[in-house]
Amino acid sequence: INVYTTYLENIEKHDIYVLIDTLRATSTISTLLHCKIKSLEIVESLEKAFLKKNKILIGERNAQKIKGFDYSNSPVEILKNKEKLNGKEIVLTTTNGAKAFNKISSMGKVIPLSLLNLNSVYEYVKDYTDIGIVCSGSNGVSSLEDLYTAGLFLRNFKDVDLNDGAKIALSIANLSVEEIKNSDHARTMKRLNLNEDIKFCFKLNVFNEVIIME
Ligand code: MLT
Repeated sequence: INVYTTYLENIEKHDIYVLIDTLRATSTISTLLHCKIKSLEIVESLEKAFLKKNKILIGERNAQKIKGFDYSNSPVEILKNKEKLNGKEIVLTTTNGAKAFNKISSMGKVIPLSLLNLNSVYEYVKDYTDIGIVCSGSNGVSSLEDLYTAGLFLRNFKDVDLNDGAKIALSIANLSVEEIKNSDHARTMKRLNLNEDIKFCFKLNVFNEVIIME
């Protein structure tokens, strides 16, 4: 198993990819799956998102809601609107998560992972022997919370060959959750009063839905 600490690293070919953006893109995706959406498309640019007529637009820039969009990239906001999202076609754009997804989806199948659906994703991928775990990070810099999620996920695997990125993730998983909740991006979110999202994104295994994206 290889862990890539940001999506801008030189990512090798693997049988399956697991994508992590704990704060908040993959937490949003886990929440959307729970809301029983009909489809999910991830786009990098606002222009592309605005071209998608009659779809629900969800996303952020600088961690804030985009003018003209239906919802922010906020799992808490999405969960509050669960009934309205049932059966809907969704377009999602985020600063880092969307770019990471576009890069690795051109290489193979991608399973978005968050703390919210950690065990279910493990159950799905546990029989694979060649897994690439890609942390989104933030603008090319590693994020503590992504490595933490990767580390907790890796703890499930026994007797597997790990790269240095995976060993770094495992050691970060030993830090206290309070330390992780004080990461660079978490602090940016706190300044924007997004404390509820931080709290929610650190809940373990509240959802059991898994999606394989292509
Ligand atoms: C991203 O893709 O950069 C994010 O998920 C940022 C955020 O929503 O806070």
